[in-house]
Amino acid sequence: MIYDVKDLNLAGKGKLRMEWAGKFMPVLGIIKKQFEKEKPFKGVKISACLHVTTETANLMEALKLGGAEVALTASNPLSTQDDAAAALVKHVKIPVFAIKGEDHKTYYKHINQALDIKPQITMDDGADLVSTIHSERRDLLENIIGGTEETTTGVIRLKSMAKEKVLSYPIIAVNDAKTKHLFDNRYGTGQSTIDGILRATNVLLAGLNFVIAGYGWCGRGVAMRANGAGAKVIVCEVDPLRALEAVMDGFQVMSLEEAAKVGDVFVTVTGDKSVITGEHFLKMKDGAIVANAGHFNIEIDIPALNNLSKGKRQIRDFVEEYILQDGRKIYLLAEGRLINLASAEGHPAMVMDMSFANQALSAQYLVQKGKSLQNQVYPVPKDIDEDIASMKLKSLGVKIDKLTSEQKKYLAGWQEGT
Ligand code: ADE
Repeated sequence: MIYDVKDLNLAGKGKLRMEWAGKFMPVLGIIKKQFEKEKPFKGVKISACLHVTTETANLMEALKLGGAEVALTASNPLSTQDDAAAALVKHVKIPVFAIKGEDHKTYYKHINQALDIKPQITMDDGADLVSTIHSERRDLLENIIGGTEETTTGVIRLKSMAKEKVLSYPIIAVNDAKTKHLFDNRYGTGQSTIDGILRATNVLLAGLNFVIAGYGWCGRGVAMRANGAGAKVIVCEVDPLRALEAVMDGFQVMSLEEAAKVGDVFVTVTGDKSVITGEHFLKMKDGAIVANAGHFNIEIDIPALNNLSKGKRQIRDFVEEYILQDGRKIYLLAEGRLINLASAEGHPAMVMDMSFANQALSAQYLVQKGKSLQNQVYPVPKDIDEDIASMKLKSLGVKIDKLTSEQKKYLAGWQEGT
């Protein structure tokens, strides 16, 4: 078996941590058992490009138990947990191509190696498999039934490919399932971003001006948790509705230009490029901390920060100190890459359970129905989304009520008034 991981000796630790994550993934656990029994992926090859974590390891194991031949590569050069990668190779016998801190060239070499199995299904977090296949590996298209996409940024890209009619196979937008983005993006990113900032810096959040650029589901989650830790949250937005929502959620809303002058910690979660630029760095206070929790490392203009600086040094793991011409210092975390996965462990397994249940069941749906789909981006079927919510509630021991037939009739009718 060909693979490329940092150190197979880490496999023991990775296996234990994988087991720990699995304890918090009861829905995926049920799916694992079903897959093992029914083998829905018998003879199916799946290339996955996901953050290589212990939660992802559990998803890969589920697919393999379902009969799939799987290859895994990382969806970010800094997000790999080397022990999880080693455990997958040694104990689950899945080829993994991922090393934490790999350079750009290795990152793409690994993507190509994961594609060498000639997949029928691609599983992406950020659309790197889809873009590589459509640009450099078009020979693979003939085998492919469909793909899944985990994240907002990836879904946006894939929808724009579909709109321009260049998308050559159907995609299921896992991100858009309610049991994914309402939980993973909000509670997952909310907690893990704060976790990443704290592990990297160990700052006290209470009383700090905490600036969040972007008030989508991820931004809402980060704001909620920073607020809970006692920070004074400032939201920057371009969308008037989201800005209004942030105001009524009780946060200060202002332009980034204004926020730059007062912020102590800055987090970008917009999905767009050049959000924090040279102009903002020039206005920041001495000691400002700047991090990104959006998918790509393009939200913070790092080249501009380099140009404005007379020197820099690594002061802690994942903390680089930039010294501006006038001596002010700015601290950039994790090279502007996903802070929650670079310096922490990403979202907790409890929430990845639902995200990856969506991945697993969407892949199964593609095997069953993919050939009848167009080259479009499709939502996760509603029944899958609802089943996952029900399974999660059950696993939490939560019972809910049912509509009576009288209530159903009332909701379906229009005659009854006051
Ligand atoms: N994305 C965010 N957190 C993650 C995790 N723990 N595993 C895989 N992908 C993630």
